[in-house]
Amino acid sequence: LTVADAAAKPAKKTLPDAQTVTSVRHWTDSLFSFRVTRPASLRFRSGEFVMIGLPDDNGKPILRAYSIASPNWDDELEFYSIKVQDGPLTSRLQHIRPGDQIILRPKPVGTLVLDALLPGKRMWFLATGTGIAPFASLMRDPETYERYEQVVMMHTCRTADELTYGRELVENLRHDPLLAELYGDDFANRLLYYPTTTRETTDRMGRITDNFTTGKVFADLGLPPISAQTDRAMICGSLAFNIDVKAVLEGFGLREGANSDPREFVVEKAFVGDGV
Ligand code: FAD
Ligand code: A2P
Repeated sequence: LTVADAAAKPAKKTLPDAQTVTSVRHWTDSLFSFRVTRPASLRFRSGEFVMIGLPDDNGKPILRAYSIASPNWDDELEFYSIKVQDGPLTSRLQHIRPGDQIILRPKPVGTLVLDALLPGKRMWFLATGTGIAPFASLMRDPETYERYEQVVMMHTCRTADELTYGRELVENLRHDPLLAELYGDDFANRLLYYPTTTRETTDRMGRITDNFTTGKVFADLGLPPISAQTDRAMICGSLAFNIDVKAVLEGFGLREGANSDPREFVVEKAFVGDGV
């Protein structure tokens, strides 16, 4: 590129805190994932969220909380998103393409971090819908397997196609040769996957709460029931889901923890406002 060329080319308008979209994948009519460049200075703990967005017609940023779905070692950032047709942000965000810019405020926060839990033997990741995003990060972080012997990913959606993003991700990890090299040939037994649907008939069905209280998930996976001595959990779904799962875990004797007070489980909302 000569100086003359550079001068002739209009500079691309840069947003404050702009990052560039590197890839986009649409999973269903209402779900997509995308990757963006990572600011060199951004450090985060797997499981945390940031504010991302796009400018509105007047150039004012429309910002929303988004869990970072990629692990903290990745040189890009991945997000997994709903498409709300009349949603201020996602009605626009669903149209992004590689090369476009989004706004990303580099201030990661959140409760779904390994440091908020006491050591234990088995970690349960409990999610509905896009609530799997923080666990997409944590499942890809070797630290998770350094701290826990076994991880169980339970993900529930209404229909089977809504499970695809998580299914692909988990199956790739379970058969990743590098992870097998690091953690042994039986790595697939260290990361168990229990996807269920509630409104479409599939092999595995039912709400996470019901599969716990009936003991079905323990029987299916050949695991002992949850106990405060061995089990830890992270919850991420709608407010109603979070409240109900919290009650079930408390029934098993687990207590809610926080960054400043690590205990046996932590909770975070996957989105705000569902009438509860
Ligand atoms: P909004 O006006 O924000 O939402 C409109 C309505 O759509 C809401 O009232 C709610 O009923 C519904 N809704 C919003 N988000 C969802 C969702 N994710 N699943 C189901 N229904 C929803 N969203 C993601 O898609 N991926 C994430 O990783 C993610 N992480 C979040 C982390 C936190 C801590 C919080 C609080 C929210 C998170 N959200 C996430 C929700 C996100 O902030 C926005 O609400 C969402 O992007 C929709 O924005 P909007 O402006 O289009 O519509
Ligand atoms: P269900 O179909 O029985 O309502 P939604 O799309 O409404 O956010 O729900 C996503 C998934 O979470 C659905 O499979 C839904 O099951 C399940 N779900 C919703 N609310 C709860 C809850 N309070 N407890 C357990 N599972 C829930």
